[in-house]
This record gives sequence, structure tokens and C-alpha cells, in this order.
Amino acid sequence: MSKPKHEYTVAICPGSFDPVTFGHLDIISRAADIFDKVIVTVATNSSKQPLFTVDERKQLLADVTSRWPNVVIDSFSGLLINYAAARGANVIVKGLRAVSDFEYELQMASANHKLNEKIETFFMMTNPKFSYLSSSIVKEIARYNGPIADLVPDAVAEALLRKFSAPST
Ligand code: COA
Repeated sequence: MSKPKHEYTVAICPGSFDPVTFGHLDIISRAADIFDKVIVTVATNSSKQPLFTVDERKQLLADVTSRWPNVVIDSFSGLLINYAAARGANVIVKGLRAVSDFEYELQMASANHKLNEKIETFFMMTNPKFSYLSSSIVKEIARYNGPIADLVPDAVAEALLRKFSAPST
């Protein structure tokens, strides 16, 4: 039998995580079963207007991933592929929810491969239970006091409640 190419695998799970949902956790937990180390990293230079600060998003991620000892939380700015290389990662893991995700993700994966062909992008099909889910959908439901218990962990639901019940400035 030939020797595995990588004896120690480090995977990066990148995203805005504004906030983390059960859909993200589905991908993170499966990645944690496959790879030796999983770095879940929050993009700080997103063009999106976030509800949660980077530190808040990292804290929520740390709370809800604490059961997996091989998962660590971080943040990055700039190009993902440069960050992945700097962290010694072998792979980038992304979840695919629907056909509509495919075209964008293919473009990203191809661009990243062009920039650094040593780092592979792995796609996992998101559990169909969460295929409609996004952080924006969760925020929209929470903003109008809709039920989110099936969409996000308790710590995230509580943080959303605090955000939307805080007096606006
Ligand atoms: N379950 C539920 N929801 C999911 C999901 C899953 N498995 N996977 C993604 N989503 C949701 C996210 O919550 C997000 O929702 P939102 O748009 O309401 O915030 C949406 O789907 C899009 O997710 P994704 O495509 O992962 O975007 P993102 O904003 O979370 O992260 C980066 C994108 C940060 C990974 C990407 O822009 C990046 O790498 N940026 C760095 C710059 C760079 O290197 N660019 C590439 C140059 S070639």
C-alpha cells in the first residue's frame, strides 16, 4: 500500500459566520471527523455589513464547537488561499447547499487552485435539512421574533435575542 501523501491533514472552514448556524455546524462536525485539525476562520474583510463583530462571531463559534478537540477558531483578512498556506493547511472545506451555490463555488475553487495548486478545495453536500438555511435567513426570522431554535444553537439564539432587543442608537 502506498504511503498517504499527507500524514497530518489541516482543513480550513472559512466563512462570514454572521452568525454560525446548524448548517455550518453540520459541515464543521463532518470535517472534524475526517481531518486531523480543522481551522474555522472568520473573514474580516467581507463586503457584507455584519450584525456581529468578528470577536463576537469567534466567541460564538468557540462556544458551539467546544466538543470537538481538533477544531480551532481564528479569523483572517486578505486572500483565503494565502491564509490557508500560512496556516499549513492542505484543504479548504466548503458546503454546497443547492445547485445555485455550485457556480460561485466552482469559480472560487478554480481561482484558488490557480493561485496555489497545492491546496485542494473539498465540497460537502450540506444536510438537506439545512439546504435552505443561511445566516441572513436566520437574522431575518430573529429580527421579527420568529422561531429559530431549530436553526441555530442556544448560545446563538440568545445572542440574536440580545442584539435585536438592544435599544437602537
Ligand atoms: N449551511 C447553512 N448556511 C450556509 C452553509 C451551510 N453549510 N454554507 C454557507 N452558508 C451560508 C452562509 O451563512 C452565508 O449566508 P449569508 O450570505 O446570509 O451571510 C451564505 O451561505 C454564503 O456562504 P459563503 O459562500 O460561505 O460566503 P461567506 O460570506 O460565509 O464566506 C468567504 C465567503 C469569506 C469564504 C470568501 O468570500 C473568501 O474566501 N473571501 C476571502 C477573499 C478571497 O480569498 N477571495 C477569493 C479570491 S479568488
